Amino acid sequence: MIDSAVHNPNADPPAVRWATTELPTAWPDRLRPWLPWELARLVWSFLRRRRPVELPAGVPGAEQLPKYLLQEFHNLPNGNWSRSITKGYVHGFERMMLGHMRAARQRIAAHLLPADSVLDVGTAGGSTAADLLRRGAGEVWGLDPSPYLLQHAARQHPDVRFVQGVAERLPFPDARFAAVAACFLLHELPPTFARQALREFHRVLRPGGRLAICEPSPTQLRVSAWRLWRRFGWRGPYYRWLARRVHEPFVQAWHALDAGAELRAAGFTVVADEEQFPSRHLQAIAI
Ligand SMILES: C[S@@+](CC[C@H](N)C(=O)[O-])C[C@H]1O[C@@H](n2cnc3c(N)ncnc32)[C@H](O)[C@@H]1O
Repeated sequence: MIDSAVHNPNADPPAVRWATTELPTAWPDRLRPWLPWELARLVWSFLRRRRPVELPAGVPGAEQLPKYLLQEFHNLPNGNWSRSITKGYVHGFERMMLGHMRAARQRIAAHLLPADSVLDVGTAGGSTAADLLRRGAGEVWGLDPSPYLLQHAARQHPDVRFVQGVAERLPFPDARFAAVAACFLLHELPPTFARQALREFHRVLRPGGRLAICEPSPTQLRVSAWRLWRRFGWRGPYYRWLARRVHEPFVQAWHALDAGAELRAAGFTVVADEEQFPSRHLQAIAI
């Protein structure tokens, strides 16, 4: 995480070589799954009630992490805070979403591009950032609080610049970017921080800058499995099951927010709010 005491707020954050940064091992990294009792611990940790994570000593930026991040999101053993589990998560997310993220990213790019500079907030494995770069964005940054995810992202996408940070306190100067992407991010934040994040997106965008938000659609939690089946085939109940199964403590609070009103309060004009099941796309322009 950027040390605000030394970081110049009028400049980009310093470059960190995440691909080669030494990161401390967490308990899932030390498990030997070929031993039956250790495999049992791993399987049990996917199934049991969610717990706070154990942050290994020496995790970069640990002192600046908000508390709400230190829990086992998505039923991942130790959440986003281990090398081995985050590696599986990066690939697992794409598979669990049954390839839908390709279409979702296409929609994000359609709103944001062309753009000479883009910030992808909550970048995880960097797939949205890399997709935007491939489609012609000039300069792309990906931001995430987890150094473990940043490491996988940097190894897979060396042309994207990756930085540690949180959406509600972006380490960039005002009016730095032409576009901001937030793909499956805001439903992971408590509402107060989601609101702050929207204000931060506005601050780092130039006037006329574009914002693309893609989040889980509320439909999968609100509509019965039978009706989802009739509308979307077997994928409907599948996404419903997935949305109910994974630990996302703030997702209902996000769905309860009037996102359009929040965007307008943060200084945006909303140009689209559309469902592309199982996603919802909000597209806005900074005024
Ligand atoms: C579902 S993943 C995002 C997937 C990614 N955007 C993609 O397109 O593949 C959510 C990410 O948000 C990150 N995150 C959670 N809270 C955050 C915060 N306050 N600020 C920035 N990122 C955050 C998590 O670490 C995680 O990597």
